[in-house]
Amino acid sequence: MTAALISPALSELSPQLAEPLRLAVLASGNGSNLAAIAAAIENGDLNATIQVVIYNNPAAKVAERAAQRQLPAVLLNHRTFASRAALDEAIVQTSQDAGADWVIMAGWMRRVTAVLIQAFPQRILNIHPSLLPSFPGIRAVDQALAAGVKITGCTVHYVELEIDSGPIIAQAAVPVLADDTAASLQARIQQQEYRIYPAAIAIAAQLAGKSTAINLHT
Ligand code: GRF
Repeated sequence: MTAALISPALSELSPQLAEPLRLAVLASGNGSNLAAIAAAIENGDLNATIQVVIYNNPAAKVAERAAQRQLPAVLLNHRTFASRAALDEAIVQTSQDAGADWVIMAGWMRRVTAVLIQAFPQRILNIHPSLLPSFPGIRAVDQALAAGVKITGCTVHYVELEIDSGPIIAQAAVPVLADDTAASLQARIQQQEYRIYPAAIAIAAQLAGKSTAINLHT
């Protein structure tokens, strides 16, 4: 049993966007969400282009995934920056140089600063492997197992300064099975991530088109 709290089909949302969304995707590790977003674009479900993939770990598998899809990828190794703000300045510059309008965090494991948030107001999204506001921060799947919850899931939300906070755009629920390990539960959560992240990007874009009429914080 899974339940996704998204009513319209993704294909009903996305074609209404006049211009393709121009995405910068930030990832630190595996990059399977990057792959899912790229697949949604390739099969016509999401009207967007990935202008640049930014990653911070030289050995991250996401670099391979970007290369396989011939997506431009830029390594911004956090160890070479003097501060979080300096890293974020480089992210802003790289994203703007690439022509990106939206910043999509897909397993980005660095805390963000006001430098990034102010450069892309209400244009930065994140995906987190729990039903926020439960289990923010690292090891969210382990946290859910330790708490003994029977349902967990994943959340796409706008990024604000406080970690894993910000208005929620989409969630999907995933049952916790009696014999679940962190790995088995995470695998089922990720299947839902691949479904809701492209949809949430399309929803956020539609909300942005009506941003004069909608206050996302109320
Ligand atoms: C995802 O589970 C996401 O929720 C979390 O980091 C993980 C990234 O996975 N923020 P991947 O790198 O996209 O495979």
